[in-house]
Amino acid sequence: MTQPQDIAFVETQLDDLAQVAGRIAALAPPDGKMDASLRRLNRLCKGAVARVLAAPSWAEAKPGDITTLEMPVGLQAVALDLVCLPRRPTQTEARRAGAQLAKRQGAQPLLVLAGATVRISELALGLALRGYAFDVHRKTPAKRGQGVRIMCTRPAEAQANAAPLMAMAEGVFFTRDLTNEPANVLTTTEFAARLQAMADLGLKIEVLDEAQLHELGMGSFLSVGQGSASPTKLVVMQWQGGPKDQAPLALVGKGVVFDTGGISLKPAAGMEDMTMDMGGAGVVAGVMRSLALRGAKANVVGLVGLVENMPSGTATRPGDVVRSMKGDTIEVINTDAEGRLVLADVLWYAQERFSPCAMVDLATLTGACIIALGHENAAVFGNDDAFANRFLKAAQAEGEGAWRLPLGQAYDDLIKSQIADMKNTGGRAAGSITAAQFLQRFVKPDMPWIHLDIAGVASVKSETALAPQGATGWGVLALNRLVQEMLEA
Ligand code: BES
Ligand code: MN
Ligand code: ZN
Repeated sequence: MTQPQDIAFVETQLDDLAQVAGRIAALAPPDGKMDASLRRLNRLCKGAVARVLAAPSWAEAKPGDITTLEMPVGLQAVALDLVCLPRRPTQTEARRAGAQLAKRQGAQPLLVLAGATVRISELALGLALRGYAFDVHRKTPAKRGQGVRIMCTRPAEAQANAAPLMAMAEGVFFTRDLTNEPANVLTTTEFAARLQAMADLGLKIEVLDEAQLHELGMGSFLSVGQGSASPTKLVVMQWQGGPKDQAPLALVGKGVVFDTGGISLKPAAGMEDMTMDMGGAGVVAGVMRSLALRGAKANVVGLVGLVENMPSGTATRPGDVVRSMKGDTIEVINTDAEGRLVLADVLWYAQERFSPCAMVDLATLTGACIIALGHENAAVFGNDDAFANRFLKAAQAEGEGAWRLPLGQAYDDLIKSQIADMKNTGGRAAGSITAAQFLQRFVKPDMPWIHLDIAGVASVKSETALAPQGATGWGVLALNRLVQEMLEA
């Protein structure tokens, strides 16, 4: 697994600055006032720091912007990064500053002079997250940061604050690795094995095989994988860090390791992107990993339906009727609307087995979601305004875009079938909403539930604030915060 680089917080010690190898970064406020560290650097660099801070461009710099002095006179370091950051930055500003440093770091060690700046652990999180590179399949690995030391006024306190944030970074990296991995590597079997390995962190992991799923009556879920040589699997991950009698929060993820569309085959152009169609399951896995790493005082159960959607002589046909675990029958109009067939049974199983206090599902469910919201926001649907708003607030606090879309009877009417209890597509209009309506049919009436369509945000073609191009890990931070605020407060 890709690991974040080491970040250590240490006492400020300016005596050997001239001899420090790698890069040096110093935080400087927008008003250009120098603290002891900046004054020392300025002296060593013969006034260059003061000139940067007095230049008109510094007055225009925004928090997180960096001015770099390459091969600075008076220092052994290869570069000095002057980072514009107020002494009391917002969380977003601090994370952005860290991300900007990560982008410049290359294959160097980095020393950050942070002085008395607060929220320094958030800067460290930004540094860790933006330092991600998925290079496991390259002959020559990407240039990776060689570790970070942050000199600050209260290093012990900063280190303690950073510990749960570094657990988040590891969870996000886990999600990104899974989501970036090609489908010939991340088969359903390999995915299950990587989840099973999390038993070492104190998670209880179970893998249900096809025979067990058949026994449970999951005809909807199983119909998706019946054309593939990879076996369909349901993985259950339990974290029990809360009181014995606390009902768990259930997180349910779509884990389609590759989506060809099945017999309703997708066009060739762009089909390679469907390696990320397990992104929902990836987020669930990343959240569970983070909760375990930070020892969350909450009960959470993650359930992921792992399956591959392939065309073959044994694949489901358009027009087939399948029976869900709930007992409702589904007419499969389009075998490419497979995610909802997976989630239907996994959602039902989650409620029957765990009676959760609430349920969240995540899925790269519809292309229509990208048409509606692009790559900036995931779509949020829910049957409970208070719960949906709680999630929206958590997502906003973490800088993860999320926007609510409606549900309603008129949309539900669009998935009525002539021959079964429902059909699996509702036509072109409101494609993301009819998909959500389908899911809601498998949610018990009093169960607070939100559905997150992450088709547009799970993996992106250009970098985001805290991630390079590719898998983002969207949702890991927001869901962790939701767990904190709902179950640990
Ligand atoms: N996995 C796709 C949705 C998707 C598309 C995710 C693009 C990420 C990027 C999903 O299984 C799918 O194929 N949905 C169909 C539904 C349709 C057949 C009703 C779609 O969106 O076209
Ligand atoms: Mn599909
Ligand atoms: Zn899909």
